[in-house]
Formats: sequence, C-alpha cells, structure tokens
Amino acid sequence: MLNKKEIIKLAIVFVKNKLSKNESGHDWWHTNRVYNMAIYLARKEKADLFICQMAALFHDIADPKFHNGDENIGPKITSDFLKKYGVDSYSIIHIIKIISSMSFSKSKDKIDFFSLEFAVVQDADRLDAIGAIGIARAFSYGGYKKSPFYDPEIKPNLKMTKVEYRKNNASVINHFYEKLLLLKDRMNTKSAKKIAKKRHQFMLDFLKQFYSEWQNKILTK
Ligand code: ADP
Ligand code: NI
Repeated sequence: MLNKKEIIKLAIVFVKNKLSKNESGHDWWHTNRVYNMAIYLARKEKADLFICQMAALFHDIADPKFHNGDENIGPKITSDFLKKYGVDSYSIIHIIKIISSMSFSKSKDKIDFFSLEFAVVQDADRLDAIGAIGIARAFSYGGYKKSPFYDPEIKPNLKMTKVEYRKNNASVINHFYEKLLLLKDRMNTKSAKKIAKKRHQFMLDFLKQFYSEWQNKILTK
C-alpha cells in the first residue's frame, strides 16, 4: 500500500476531476467542504482520520439521483480506486459501507450499519445542507430542476416515501420543511450538533425575512 498521505493526494485529484462537471450542489466544492468538515469532526470525535477522509471524498462520486437510481456505481468506483493503491480490504469494506448508507433519502430505509466514522461523515454532509451554504445549494438545486422557489398554495409534504422524495420538486421553500429544518436533530455527534444549532437559526431568520418580504411587510426592529 502507498502511504496514506499519498493516497489522499491521488484521491483528491481523482475525485476533483470526476466531479468537475456536476451542478453546483454536488460539485467538487461540496465534496471539498464535506472533506474539511469531516477532518474537523474526526479530530474532535477521535474517529479514524483516513477512513473519514476517504469516505468524505468519495461520498458523492456517483449520486444515484444522477445515475437512474443505480446505487452500485459509486461503491464500485470507490473500491476500484482503493484496491488499485493497495488499501486493506477491511478498510475498503468500511469506506464502502459508509458511502452506501449515507444519503438522507436512503436513511428513510432502515440501515443496519453504524460506526463512528459513518457518524462523522454523515454529519459533515448534513452540515453542508444547512446554514447559508445549505440555502444556496437548495436554490441552486431548485433552479437546476426548474422548480419554483416558493408557491404558497403548495403545502410541504412531511410524509413522502423515498421515491416521492426523489421526484419531488414542488418548491424550494417546501424543501426547508421537508428536509433542511429536520437535520439539526439528526446530527450524530456532539460537535456537529453545536455547529448545526447556529446554522439552523440562520435558516429560521432567513425564512422570517423571506415571508415578511413576500407579504410586503416593512420590518421594524
Ligand atoms: P444528499 O446527497 O445529502 O442525500 P441531496 O442529494 O438530496 O442530499 O441534496 C443535495 C442538495 O440539494 C442539498 O443541499 C439539498 O438540500 C438540495 N436539494 C435536494 N432536493 C431538493 C429539492 N427538492 N429542492 C431544493 N433543494 C433540494
Ligand atoms: Ni454530499
């Protein structure tokens, strides 16, 4: 096996290249932010750094959403890469389990796998979906899907199945209620909960301002 630092360097180049054409919610910069957050959380939570780094780098390498729902492409690309550089099979299995169990829509199914490293990387990904960046990503995704950013006549649907959730593009504001505002209470680690609290409040402030402008109210402070 090459040394871990070298493998990480090669993985960064590989992933950056693969993600360069993605829309901005799932581009290299999303992965880069998740990677940096995973390193921060891994240190705080004393998780295995290499496993967290690798899982963060590969977590969106082939999002099933953009591959006709195929959930096997990402794990395949990841294990091929790791095998090529001689990473031990125990670590490969762990990394693959993390990335296949991670996405929010998948978590609507029961997952029978958990580890500290999984907790860290899932938190890092979820933190990138809230706060100012989470807001930016949601509106960017809405534009990409051509959904309206708000329609007061369409109410949020909190009881969607996995398939309905994937197909749903009612409005970006609804997405706050269907996902973004639920994430704060779904963080696994203490360190992520702390960060989520601030980002959550920022979204509430944003929504408050949004509705007041929509209703043409002049804010008095
Ligand atoms: P994950 O890959 O973490 O499961 P998604 O792929 O569902 O998350 O979402 C990626 C980004 O796009 C997130 O920031 C998410 O909030 C946003 N997004 C997903 N679905 C919608 C939607 N229907 N409307 C607006 N934004 C969305
Ligand atoms: Ni992601």
